[in-house]
Formats: sequence, structure tokens, C-alpha cells
Amino acid sequence: MSEQRGNWTSNAGFILAATGSAIGLGNLWKFPFITWENNGGAFVLVYLLCIAAVGLPIMMAELLIGRRTQKSAVGALKEAVGPAWGFVGLWGVLCGFTLLSYYTVIAGWSLFFFFKTAGWMVGGFPESTSLGQVFTEQSANGGLQLGLSLAFSIATVSVVYFGVQKGIEKIARLFLPILFAILLLLLFTSFAMEGSGEAMAFIFRPSFGELDRGSILEALGHAFFTLSLGMGAMITYGSYMAKHQSIVKASAIIVLLDTVIALVATIIMFTVIFTAGLQDQVSDTGTVGMLFISLPQLFFAEGVVPFGHILAPLFYVLVALAALTSTMSLLEVVTSYVIDEHGIPRQKATLMCGATVFMFTILAALSFGGASFATNLSVPGPIGDLFFAGKTSWFGMADHFVSNWMLPTGGLAITIAAGWVLTREVSESELVDETTPSWFNYSAWRFFIRYVAPVAISVIVVAVIFFGVDFS
Ligand code: PHE
Repeated sequence: MSEQRGNWTSNAGFILAATGSAIGLGNLWKFPFITWENNGGAFVLVYLLCIAAVGLPIMMAELLIGRRTQKSAVGALKEAVGPAWGFVGLWGVLCGFTLLSYYTVIAGWSLFFFFKTAGWMVGGFPESTSLGQVFTEQSANGGLQLGLSLAFSIATVSVVYFGVQKGIEKIARLFLPILFAILLLLLFTSFAMEGSGEAMAFIFRPSFGELDRGSILEALGHAFFTLSLGMGAMITYGSYMAKHQSIVKASAIIVLLDTVIALVATIIMFTVIFTAGLQDQVSDTGTVGMLFISLPQLFFAEGVVPFGHILAPLFYVLVALAALTSTMSLLEVVTSYVIDEHGIPRQKATLMCGATVFMFTILAALSFGGASFATNLSVPGPIGDLFFAGKTSWFGMADHFVSNWMLPTGGLAITIAAGWVLTREVSESELVDETTPSWFNYSAWRFFIRYVAPVAISVIVVAVIFFGVDFS
């Protein structure tokens, strides 16, 4: 290793950075929509159960493997569980790479909508605007998409370039409080709106008749995505932790904050939608529609959101900040691997990794009609069906492969490593010390990581293979 590894300057800095990784487009873009698709209530309950029974124990497992070894994903797994486990780490690095390549494109859309809504705030909202059309036109504009993703990639690279303390921790400390403040403001506004009661009922009143097997699996798959688990991000962030920081306490806070923010975002969006009676449009325009078509329209519609024209650009700032604190953790997984395992200095490693990922971001950016080769990219035959569910475009295939294959298989391997290969002495000594909160029960954790989590994840993997369930 050519230089000293970084470390967090404080416990709060670490918790903010890890929470920033967890809170992202998963909370603002994916969760509200899958809650909508699965009819709320019962789905939300199952999701909360997955977070508590599978997400929380794996969060602790990843952090403990990282902190014990003080190494990033590949080195940490090699050292803690054995040389062959380096492959699991590499699988995680590859996952971070792939996820970052397309996540950046959606993050770029938030920049576009920030500028667009800021323009409307100043110049007025043109009555004849069709937001569906605005969205489709921007996503099919190859040059614009490349520019937006390049801007976002440069932002991500700039943070990681400055390292753990001066880059990642500093940005997380600055941006997360802003993010919380904007969300709180939006939440209070939504309480003043007519549709808030209906929204709350939709989200929190379970009706189990609506729940099918696919919903349960989708909830579990999303628990991985939203907590940044299954690909070594938390191993990497854990590797910068100091011995006196409590893994158990930190995990509980990160998981709690991520969950609360996902619910708050959902309450805000549903309130707006119910107030305007736009339920049908949301169902028609899909995942993308809720965040980038319905919401901007409602912010500017007469009498829906108080001060909507001011809150609209603020909302897209929120989306961009949430995305950046996630993309920087994704790039950190890839970069720290290159630094630790290949001895390349951070600055050079960051630029190399950032540039290589961007090659694939180009494909993702052109996946929406910007260029026909990227939009029509596909893997034909049974292999394509199994791994990519017949999806086309780099964006579609990468998103499907990451959510359905990479995260669940990586997560399964990590539970086996932490529950079955790592000895009791090792995991107990990392989790239990004088910093451990009194509610924590080590034997319960061990039971969850050895039995509950691997069984639940195996169910996802089997579901994907035999029933072709799609989480993306
Ligand atoms: N947790 C992030 C989100 O919810 C996505 C992510 C996954 C980030 C894995 C880093 C690692 O948007």
C-alpha cells in the first residue's frame, strides 16, 4: 500500500456518510413507486419486516467485516473469511461499477428537472406544457443526456478524489442536514394538503388480500438496494471505522433513518397525487413517471401544493443531493479496491475508475432513444431471458441484472461468510463491547445471520431462477 488509509474523523461523520449512501434514488424514486404498484399497506409492512429481519443483521455483518480488516471489499473478505472469498468481493466491485454506470443517468435527470423547474419558477409555467413530452424529449436527447451524466460523474469523481475525510465525510456532513431540512419542509407542506389523510391510509393501512408472492420478494430485493447491501459498500465504509465506534448502534441509526426517509418521501408524493386526483396518470407512466412527470406537473398546478413553484426546484435539489451521496459510495467501492489491492494512489485511482465507469454511463445515457445501438442492445436467447428477462438497452439490462442477480447473490455470500465461516469469537468481539447498546442480543443476531437471512435470500434467488420474478 502506497499511502495511509483514510478514516472517519468522528462517529457522526461516519453515520452521515453511510446514511447518505443508503438514502438515494431507492428511497425517492423506487420505493414510492413499488409501494404504489403493490397497493401500499400490507406491502409496506412486509418491507419493514425485511428491513428488520434481513437488512439490519447484514448491515452489522458488512460493517464488522470491514472494520475488523480495515480493508475494502476484496481484501476484507479475503482476510476475514479466506482467500477464495476475494471473488465475492470482486463480484461486489463489479456490481458497484455496473450500478454506478446507470444510476448516474437518473441522477442527471434530477439536474435537468432542477434547471427546468427553476426556469418555470422565474419565468412562469407555460400552460400548454405536457410533462410527459418534456420527459420523453429530454431522455431521448443523446447530447443532453451525455452532458447531464458527465456533469454528475464529474461531481462524483471530485468528491471521491479528495478521500474519505476531505471528500466523502465532508460532503455528507454538509448535504445530509440540507436534505433532511428540505424533506421536513415538504412533509409539513403536505400535511396542510387535502389528500394527506388518504395518502396515510394507503401507506399504513394493511390489507393482506392485495399481497402476492411477487410483492414479498420485491420487498426483500428492495431492502438490499435501499440499504446499499450485498455489494461491499458497507464493508468499505466499515473499513474506515475505528474500534471505539459501535457497529450495532451505527447500524440501527442508519437503517432507521433510511426507512423513515423512504416513508416520508412516500407520504409527500402520495399526498400530492391524492390531492390532485392523479392516480390514473401515475399508474400509466410507471416508475419514472411519478418522480419526473406527475410531481413537476403538480408543483405548478393551481391550488395543489402551497408555494409549489418554489418547492419544485428545491425538491430536485433534494433528489440530486441524495443521489450524489449514493454515487460517491459506489465509486468508493471500486476506487478503494484499486487503491488497496493494486497499490495505486487515490487521485490516480479515482480518475481511472471514474473514466472507466463513464464509458458505460455513455451506453446508459443513450439507452432512451439517444442512440439506437444503445437503446436496442440486447442479449438474445435463453441466456438473455434468464439474466436480463429479455430487457433491452444497457440501462434496462444493467438495472435488471444488478437488482435481481448481483445484490441477492452477493448478499447471500456475505451472510454465509459472516454467519458460517467467521467464528463466533470474531463476530462477537466486533459486535459486543462496552459501546454496545443494551437492547442488542448477540445470539439473536447470530440466529438471523445464520438462518433467517440466508433462507430469505435463497428464496429470492430461487424465485428469480424458476419463476422469473423481476425486482427492477
Ligand atoms: N442505497 C442506494 C439507494 O437507495 C443505492 C445504492 C446501492 C448505493 C448500493 C450504494 C450501494 O438509492
